Amino acid sequence: MRRLLPLLLLLLLPPSVAQLVPRVVLVAAFPPELERWIERLPLSEELPFPAGAGPQVLHWNSDLQILGLVTGQTSKSAAMSVTALGHDPRFDLRHAFWLFAGIAGVDPELGSLGSVTWGRRLVDGTAVKFLDAREMPQDWLTGWLPLHRDKPYGLPIPSVAEQKDMVWTLDLHPGGLVEWAFNLTQHIKLPDHKAFASLREKYTAAPARAPPRVQLGDTLSTDVFWTGSWSAGWARNWTKYWLPAESFGGQGRLGTSAMEDFAVAEALAALHRAGLVSGVAAALLVLRSASNFMEPPAKQSPVAYMDFFLNEACEAAYLVGLPVVKELLQRPGFAPSTRGVALKDRSVSTAEFYQVAQVQRGTHGVRYFVG
Ligand SMILES: *[C@@H]1O[C@H](CO)[C@@H](O)[C@H](O)[C@H]1NC(C)=O
Ligand SMILES: *[C@@H]1O[C@H](CO)[C@@H](O)[C@H](O)[C@H]1NC(C)=O
Repeated sequence: MRRLLPLLLLLLLPPSVAQLVPRVVLVAAFPPELERWIERLPLSEELPFPAGAGPQVLHWNSDLQILGLVTGQTSKSAAMSVTALGHDPRFDLRHAFWLFAGIAGVDPELGSLGSVTWGRRLVDGTAVKFLDAREMPQDWLTGWLPLHRDKPYGLPIPSVAEQKDMVWTLDLHPGGLVEWAFNLTQHIKLPDHKAFASLREKYTAAPARAPPRVQLGDTLSTDVFWTGSWSAGWARNWTKYWLPAESFGGQGRLGTSAMEDFAVAEALAALHRAGLVSGVAAALLVLRSASNFMEPPAKQSPVAYMDFFLNEACEAAYLVGLPVVKELLQRPGFAPSTRGVALKDRSVSTAEFYQVAQVQRGTHGVRYFVG
């Protein structure tokens, strides 16, 4: 009987099944990053998502048309989950904005704990050649090499074609999405904490010693949760190497280090080629709030050091992301009446809808009609 239910529902449904049409897709890497959005927006409806690499459930608010996705950590999970969502026949994502809101390590040369950085360029630090420091030539400063070079930061500097494999540039044009989101949020007074203050005073760089604020920076994605000053030096130089001064937006300036950003953009680009989303620069914003510094204070060993402020950083990401999501919902060019209807207009639950979707896909190909 259970297995017949979807078929019965199919017979009961009108011939056209509306898709869900998210206006904003909120993307997080692991559950704590989405928790506040689920509770406070709220995103109360749960949709099964067995093809996801993270928790196999999506979170949905049909009034606001906001969808929440937790991708799972690392670039592999991020790419898998975004791709799975993009090809999910329940959704029409062609006009959706995507906001990645997560936590990260911040470069003490750019910001402090609890700060929020809007990503400008997303640099890949995962496709690398590696030599252990004990075996590498003595004059090398790092064992992390570009894939197609035989020394760190090797010449020639990356060609535009090589950059395309390693860098995603978000909409940095004057008046574009990134500037708009930054303008909208730059004066938000972010919560400060005693624990932040006592840690940041151990640093010498002025940005690390300042109270939390909203800023712009480039992000580096690696699947390695690294820390330490040598690695931070590599990360800064790597970001500059892949974004030389002549790059659009100027020389790279490392802001935050995390895992998923580049992969999310990569997956969106593929979905765009398939006509399923409106593009990376057209649709993606990335914000990263600082849960920790990416290197310890001067002279302190990275082994002993790892102060990590998960809740405080998740709160800061929410505070900065929220006004942007609210404004995105108002942006012109999105007329829900012509681009599908929210599922609540149908007399079938989302779980049932999902089963129907599978049956339809299996027996009749995908039959979805918008509106
Ligand atoms: C952002 O603010 C700057 C400086 O006030 C202004 O020149 C620019 O037009 C603003 N951009 C957007 C997209 O609002
Ligand atoms: C990064 O570049 C700076 C400036 O050239 C250099 O002093 C530093 O040692 C480099 N660090 C690494 C790890 O390559």
